[in-house]
Amino acid sequence: MTSQPRIRIDQASIGYGGRAVQTGIAADIAPGEIFAIVGDSGSGKSTLLKTMVGLLPILKGNIQFDGQPLDMSDAGGPPPFGILFQGGALWSSMTLLENVMMPMEMHDHANPAAREALARFKLALVGLPGHEERYPADLSGGMRKRAALARALALDPSVLFLDEPSAGLDPLSSRRLDQLILSLRDGLGITVVIVTHELESLYSIADRMLFLDGELHHPTALGAPSDLVHSSDNAKVREFLTRKGMNCSISEATP
Ligand SMILES: Nc1ncnc2c1ncn2[C@@H]1O[C@H](COP(=O)(O)OP(=O)(O)OP(=O)(O)O)[C@@H](O)[C@H]1O
Ligand SMILES: [Mg+2]
Repeated sequence: MTSQPRIRIDQASIGYGGRAVQTGIAADIAPGEIFAIVGDSGSGKSTLLKTMVGLLPILKGNIQFDGQPLDMSDAGGPPPFGILFQGGALWSSMTLLENVMMPMEMHDHANPAAREALARFKLALVGLPGHEERYPADLSGGMRKRAALARALALDPSVLFLDEPSAGLDPLSSRRLDQLILSLRDGLGITVVIVTHELESLYSIADRMLFLDGELHHPTALGAPSDLVHSSDNAKVREFLTRKGMNCSISEATP
């Protein structure tokens, strides 16, 4: 790991209205790392993501980007990250091109004359060239996810936060999305924080994972999935990493 982490989570407690759903979260995420957040349903994965991007106040501890606390004021410029929310939808009344241009307009990002070309580039990057004028409703689920990823890339983020990006996709589309995430990291050096339920994604793209235990309300494992599956001293973590069926790939029945 390089000397300065891209993200440092330091003894963080997260939750709502003073009620913690997880406590004692600590992790340093390196630049260019693909870092997975996993755990039981309701354990606080989405809550952690929302806290990391400043949408929820942290209850205790702190989170830093490149050694600085997150500056949510406009003075800090556009946020250094892109977000794909759980179930995150595109704006249905806009074309894909307009969807990707919208964050640029909202944050006054780039020269207005260059925005369209930049948005076309992002759509090409996710494998959607030629679909710029189409509306979300006319696309497959996999294409919609890739378009949402293009929108998350609109502001040239150094970090991408992805909350279950492959939920609802068939296995082939999920694997394509995994490959796309890997190529964004390898090609652009983007750091990726991803919530996933899918073991296949976890093993194929995550450098490390953090396991949030929903019953104990604190993390019980941090490390490479392929190491933890053998070496974790936590039976629930080992079971999670070796389980079959449910949640492994929610779309196994899809042709
Ligand atoms: N806006 C909210 N106000 C109060 N409690 C909330 C709110 N959103 C979520 N919670 C609670 O916080 C806990 C963590 O929720 P969260 O959505 O982070 O879980 P998760 O790990 O993302 O689950 P899933 O795998 O189902 O997406 C849950 O008990 C949930 O009911
Ligand atoms: Mg969630």
